[in-house]
Amino acid sequence: MTTVTDEQALDRDRERTPAACDAHPLELLAFCGPHEALEGEPVDGVAIVRFPRWRKSMKVFIVGIGGGVGRRVGEQLAAAGDEPTGLVRQQRQVEALASLGIKTKFGDLVAMSVDELADAVHGADAVVFSAGAGGKDGDDATTRIDGDGPGKLAEAAALAGVRRFILVSVFPEAWRERRMDASFEHYMVQKKRAEIALVQTDLDWLIVRPSALLNDPGTGRVDLGLAKVHEQITRDDVATTVVALLKSSDLSRLILEVTGGEVPIAEAVAAVREATAPCGSEQA
Ligand SMILES: NC(=O)c1ccc[n+]([C@@H]2O[C@H](COP(=O)([O-])OP(=O)(O)OC[C@H]3O[C@@H](n4cnc5c(N)ncnc54)[C@H](OP(=O)(O)O)[C@@H]3O)[C@@H](O)[C@H]2O)c1
Repeated sequence: MTTVTDEQALDRDRERTPAACDAHPLELLAFCGPHEALEGEPVDGVAIVRFPRWRKSMKVFIVGIGGGVGRRVGEQLAAAGDEPTGLVRQQRQVEALASLGIKTKFGDLVAMSVDELADAVHGADAVVFSAGAGGKDGDDATTRIDGDGPGKLAEAAALAGVRRFILVSVFPEAWRERRMDASFEHYMVQKKRAEIALVQTDLDWLIVRPSALLNDPGTGRVDLGLAKVHEQITRDDVATTVVALLKSSDLSRLILEVTGGEVPIAEAVAAVREATAPCGSEQA
């Protein structure tokens, strides 16, 4: 006698891909039974289920995972069954992220050597740099974190064999219509220096420049492209855009600007794909 239940099928799938299964559970389409026979074998019933499309979870190492955008990227990846991890330098962030099921590496980007960073990112499918000094510790900190940090992480990623790299940067003309102070100008110079360091590598990089960041709830809609007007965007929407781009391995070696808008994020990413595809190439 054979018994087929949706629970058993779910358990088998859960063993194979635990987190992805939680995020995309089996869908029970129908349960019928008992039946006389199925291919000659008597059964108690038949469950017709749709399996989630199996996919390998993505391991992503995030520098800045304790911060506004970085934490949201980590949360969204974890919720989708991927495996985010990242660098934190405060014990309370280790605990807060652990409570979301996110393991972290304790360390300071400035203090760590390239070899130590390479050990930390080893095994990742992608790295995201979303750290920043935030103007809190003076211009030197901005130089070391915003300016030197991405190049240092790129060197470590190359050493560890991790090719995909997303850098969260800034619009070059951000607030240039206002009279900004010397520290802000220093920040902008460092952000540009970091972009240059990354584009000069042979990594599979993407630079995402968000406009002014807000903590309001995300809308799921943006204005994304090669050159946009600097306005405002929520950290939620930046994170969703970064996650969508992480999953778009065909988009590479592009500098994208993103600001609040009206286009659903998946559509906005698809439009970038269309706009940047080489002439004559097949669209995904
Ligand atoms: N604010 C804006 O309007 C704006 C606009 C466009 C682009 N951006 C850029 O967007 C990115 C994300 O912004 P955000 O507001 O999400 O940043 P955030 O909340 O300030 O987070 C930055 C994170 O970087 C971490 N960090 C700094 N120095 C570090 C170090 N030496 N080692 C390890 N981690 C370090 C911080 O750790 P701690 O938590 O320990 O301090 C923090 O968690 C930044 O690069 C920022 O420059 C910002």
